[in-house]
Amino acid sequence: MIYLDNAATSWPKPPEVLRAAAGVMAQPFGNPGRGGHRASLCAGRVVYACRETVADYLKAAPERVIFTLNCTDAVNLALRGSLHRGDHVLVTHDAHNAVMRPLSGMEARGEITLSVLKADARGLIAPSAIDEAVTPQTALCVLTHASNVTGIVQDAGALIAAAHRYGIPVLLDAAQTAGTVPLSGLNADLLAMPGHKGLMGPMGTGILYVGEHVEPRPLREGGTGSLSESVHQPSMLPDRYESGTLQLPALAGLLQGVRFVRAHDAQIHAYECELIDALRAQLEEIPGVTVYGAKDAPHVGVLSFNLAGRESAEVADALDVRGFCLRGGLHCAPCMHHYLGTQGTVRASVGPYSTLREIDQLADAVRSLASKM
Ligand SMILES: Cc1ncc(COP(=O)(O)O)c(C=O)c1O
Repeated sequence: MIYLDNAATSWPKPPEVLRAAAGVMAQPFGNPGRGGHRASLCAGRVVYACRETVADYLKAAPERVIFTLNCTDAVNLALRGSLHRGDHVLVTHDAHNAVMRPLSGMEARGEITLSVLKADARGLIAPSAIDEAVTPQTALCVLTHASNVTGIVQDAGALIAAAHRYGIPVLLDAAQTAGTVPLSGLNADLLAMPGHKGLMGPMGTGILYVGEHVEPRPLREGGTGSLSESVHQPSMLPDRYESGTLQLPALAGLLQGVRFVRAHDAQIHAYECELIDALRAQLEEIPGVTVYGAKDAPHVGVLSFNLAGRESAEVADALDVRGFCLRGGLHCAPCMHHYLGTQGTVRASVGPYSTLREIDQLADAVRSLASKM
C-alpha cells in the first residue's frame, strides 16, 4: 500500500508515537488531574509535558494551549465561543467545512453576516482584500493558512497584520501547516490545528491556541479536577475549556509527534515540497491531466489533479485498486471547488515518510490510467 493521504491524517506515525500511546495504556496511568495518587499524577505529568512542548513550539504560554478532539473541534470553540448576534465575519474561498458549516449555520439563523475575501487568479489573498471587505461590524477574520485542496499557503502574517490595523482579531486554521510551516510570530489571536496531521500525533488530538486579547466562551462545561467546591466553570486557563477526561493515550503520542517534528524543523517542509514538486512536474507532462493551483505559489505537500472525462472519485478508486490511498471528491471544501470550477479533484498529500519512489510509482499509475481513456 502507498499512503498519500497525509492531508487527512498522517501515516505512518513515528515509532515513538506508537510506543508512547500504547505505553500509557499498558501501565497504571490514572485520570490526569483527578486525584492525588501517583497514577493520576503520572498522567498529569504526561499532559503537562505535551502542553509545554506544544507551547514551546508555538512560543506561547502553556495555559493558552487548549487540547481539543481535532481541528474542527478547535475551530468550533473559537467561532461559537467568540461570535455574537449582529457580527460580521471575513472568511476565505479556501475555507474547509470545519469553518464554513458553523459560520453558514449562524448566517442562516440570521445571527451573523459573512463576506468572502477576494483572491487573485493564483488563489492568493492580498491584504488589500481585507481593507475592501471590512465594515464597522466586522468582529472576526477567519483565515485558512493552506488550502487542503491545492496546498497553496497564504501570507498569513501580512493578512493578520492587515486585520489588526482595524482591531479585528484573527482565527487562523492551520490544519495543513501545523508541523511544517512556522506558526509562531504570525500573531494569530486564535490558532486552530489538528494534532493528527503534520504534528504526527494520533487521531483524537487537536489544539486551540487562545491569545491574550480574546476570551471565547467555553462550549463544554463540567469537571476539571480543579475548584471542585464550586458549581461554576473555572475561569482560569486551560481548565475553562477542558472539561471531562482528556484523551491521555493520544496526548502521550502527540507529545512524541511534536518532538519528532521539532527535531527535524524546516527539513520536513522542504522535503515534502520536493516530493510534491516532482509529482507536479511528472503529472503536467501527461496528456489529459490537469494539475490545480499555481506552480510558483508557496505551498505545502498537497496537490490536486483531474483526468479529462473522468470523475475524481472514479480515478481515486482506480488508484486504490492499484494500491494507492489518495482522496477523490470535494475534500470538505466546496467553496474552493467553486473557485477552481471543479466538481472534485484527486488529491495526493505527502508526509515525512513518503518517498520519491512512491511519487514515481503514482505518476506511472496515472500515466497508465490516462493512456486508457
Ligand atoms: C483546512 C482544514 N481545516 C480543518 C480541517 C479539519 O480537521 P480535523 O479533521 O482535525 O477536524 C481540515 C481537515 O482536513 C482541513 O484540511
